[in-house]
Amino acid sequence: MKITDEIIDTLESAEAWVTWGVGYFEQHGIYFGHGTDNALDEAAWLVLSALELPIDIALSEVPQPLTAAQRRAIFTLFQQRVERRMPAAYLIHEAWFCGLRFYVDERVLVPRSPIGELIVNAFAPWWPANQAVNRVLDIGTGSGCIAIACAHAFPDAAVDAVDISSDALLVTQKNIALHQLQGRVSAVESDLFDALDGRQYDIIVSNPPYVDAEDIAAMPDEFRHEPQIGLVAGEDGLDFAIRILQDAPRYLTDDGILIVEVGNSEAALAARFPTVPFMWLEFEYGGHGVFLLTAAELAEHHETFLKA
Ligand SMILES: C[S@@+](CC[C@H](N)C(=O)[O-])C[C@H]1O[C@@H](n2cnc3c(N)ncnc32)[C@H](O)[C@@H]1O
Repeated sequence: MKITDEIIDTLESAEAWVTWGVGYFEQHGIYFGHGTDNALDEAAWLVLSALELPIDIALSEVPQPLTAAQRRAIFTLFQQRVERRMPAAYLIHEAWFCGLRFYVDERVLVPRSPIGELIVNAFAPWWPANQAVNRVLDIGTGSGCIAIACAHAFPDAAVDAVDISSDALLVTQKNIALHQLQGRVSAVESDLFDALDGRQYDIIVSNPPYVDAEDIAAMPDEFRHEPQIGLVAGEDGLDFAIRILQDAPRYLTDDGILIVEVGNSEAALAARFPTVPFMWLEFEYGGHGVFLLTAAELAEHHETFLKA
């Protein structure tokens, strides 16, 4: 009997498969960080997905013994996760962000931005709870996760979801339709602000490409499945952040705020603009390298950004 058949014959319950998966993942040293951060959650997510069950069901409640077809489906997902180093989210076309479900495939990054935590809190205390939000812009929208989560957080706001990649925007549109937000979230093909002339926003939020050359070279294989246009941002990771800083003032309302993620490129940005009072935000659930500037601060330092 082949080892594969033996495993499939022996493991009868969802719990047994999760336990086996944890060992299998750890033995092969796969990277976590595209939806989960550990082997147990990753294995449970794949098992429940293969069984077409909701992710919040207790493993002990899954009827057993599993059928041969169910066991084979789980094994196939585990095997692809290990042998191809494919993020689980791409294998099952599902990602979670701000408690919302998104369709994903290799045309877009797997949602994981810490900005989600700010959105769930409606950008409080940086945006006053009693102040209306009329328009939001999400630059580099990918799956549309940030734009769509903002539309949920601000039910009266219109949201523009911008990306330069027409492939990515097909996924954005699919998610806008999934969340039935066609009337309020618009997918716009644009190189940063280029197609937005004349528009102004209360909140501009962006998770642009920001990975510097050193980090790109050291990335685990899982990242190679993601569109490189969503990651690569020049030698110091600042190519897009600087362009956003230069152009944002024209597109913000007087009380507007700009929130941008630059991850590990935080130090490079702070060193490049030592006189700019970037507010680096803190996160309860992990993440770093996200700054906030007000429209007034951007206007005050506009010349500095233009000289960069
Ligand atoms: C880091 S990903 C973020 C995706 C998504 N917002 C998220 O948080 O999961 C960056 C996105 O920026 C897009 N992008 C790259 N260059 C761009 C440009 N010049 N203008 C607009 N979008 C761009 C990429 O296609 C990609 O979808």
